[in-house]
Amino acid sequence: MKIIFDQKNLFCLPWTQTILGTHLKGKVNFMALDWLTRVNFKPAMLGICVNKIHASNEAICDTGEFSVNLPSSDMVEITDYAGLVSGKRTDKSDLFEVYYGELKSAPLINECPLSIECKVVQTVDLPTNSFFIAEIINIYTEDKYLTDGKPDIKKINPFLLTMPDNRYWSIGDCLGNAWSAGKKIKEEKK
Ligand SMILES: Cc1cc2nc3c(=O)[nH]c(=O)nc-3n(C[C@H](O)[C@H](O)[C@H](O)COP(=O)(O)O)c2cc1C
Repeated sequence: MKIIFDQKNLFCLPWTQTILGTHLKGKVNFMALDWLTRVNFKPAMLGICVNKIHASNEAICDTGEFSVNLPSSDMVEITDYAGLVSGKRTDKSDLFEVYYGELKSAPLINECPLSIECKVVQTVDLPTNSFFIAEIINIYTEDKYLTDGKPDIKKINPFLLTMPDNRYWSIGDCLGNAWSAGKKIKEEKK
């Protein structure tokens, strides 16, 4: 029997853990970010949801640029720290080694296996958050994270967040191939 999980202000889907990189008044800033999704196929676009009280929100509104960085499982503590303190009061600019791609205000994290630089194309103003829709300018990784030219999740070793228990999880086993695992059922239903 289904029950209604009535705490609708809490969230129960698992999220990929990332770190948002911005320039706050000319200084590098980072925050833990989970609310993100792919929103357009071509050109490739990402949507991220940032609370208006965060320094990162102000930074993105000012520059129109940001980075999304995928940390590996050995970066849980530093990623969590980036989500505990605000750039309004604490300097987080030296948390990571930074490099830049094409954009001047989208600091990319050297320690992260995969980083995406983004340029905002549209901002949706919501009651507590801004939903920034941004075009993906470039994605950066290293050969050691690829297998057959594609990002390898085992090598990248990212982690997930579950809410409302607020816990981090590593990735488990591969369960099958997407757009393929359902083919047997498709054949049977013909
Ligand atoms: C695991 C985790 C995930 C978070 N995800 C988000 C998020 O997706 N959107 C958001 O607005 N805040 C999120 N936060 C909160 C911000 O990371 C946090 O308030 C941070 O201190 C804001 O920093 P800033 O003021 O320097 O921008 C998250 C925090 C943690 C710990």
